[in-house]
Amino acid sequence: AETLPLRGLHVLITAGPTQEPLDPVRYLTNHSTGKMGYAIAEQARDMGADVTLVSGPVSLSAPHGVDVIHVTTARNMFDAVQERFMQADLTIMAAAVGDFRPVEQVQEKIKKNGRVNIDLHLTSNPDILAWAGEHKTADQTLCGFAMETQDLEANAAKKLASKHCSMLVANNLNTPGAGFAVDTNVVTVLKPGATPDEPIIEHWNKMGKQELAERILTELSALR
Ligand code: C5P
Repeated sequence: AETLPLRGLHVLITAGPTQEPLDPVRYLTNHSTGKMGYAIAEQARDMGADVTLVSGPVSLSAPHGVDVIHVTTARNMFDAVQERFMQADLTIMAAAVGDFRPVEQVQEKIKKNGRVNIDLHLTSNPDILAWAGEHKTADQTLCGFAMETQDLEANAAKKLASKHCSMLVANNLNTPGAGFAVDTNVVTVLKPGATPDEPIIEHWNKMGKQELAERILTELSALR
């Protein structure tokens, strides 16, 4: 019989962008499509896991056999993760969470009123991955993602350590075949080494997001 490497495990995944409302008709968001997180959710299901996917607004359909929780804002995503994190054996945060939100969401549409410039006041959102890193127990495995446009290894190493991840998957937005809205990815994978200054770093070849999902999950199950 085929072996299911994640059988019996609860896997929690975040995916997609967040939307931060400005007024009843406008919001701040980013280019995330959710493809990577959805691919991981489908793969984890196929490897036998019990999968919960906390998803921001995307145009992908909900994968069969996966418990999908739809959220809009970073704070909604944080609430959904906080409710489910302690039951998760393996948590993978692939969402592109908005770092900032408007300080206030006004109740009426913002009018031009003849203005040429307007000021937007933003405040920082909770860092969900950092929260999970602070609260995880010794038997929980935590994987973060990072998208960088410069100093990929140094920035990713800092995130791995500061967010207490078991593994961090970093992609460089400027590498062909990596990033948003493409079906492939080129990643650098970091794991804690002997000291925080010396993580274990692997450069993986370009591959499809589904194959990458399988490689990531195989790597994470080997850490358990
Ligand atoms: O610090 P940075 O945003 O680059 O970190 C990226 C990682 O942190 C991703 O795994 C992302 O899902 C997670 N993250 C989060 N909450 C935030 C910001 C990022 O969970 N507010």
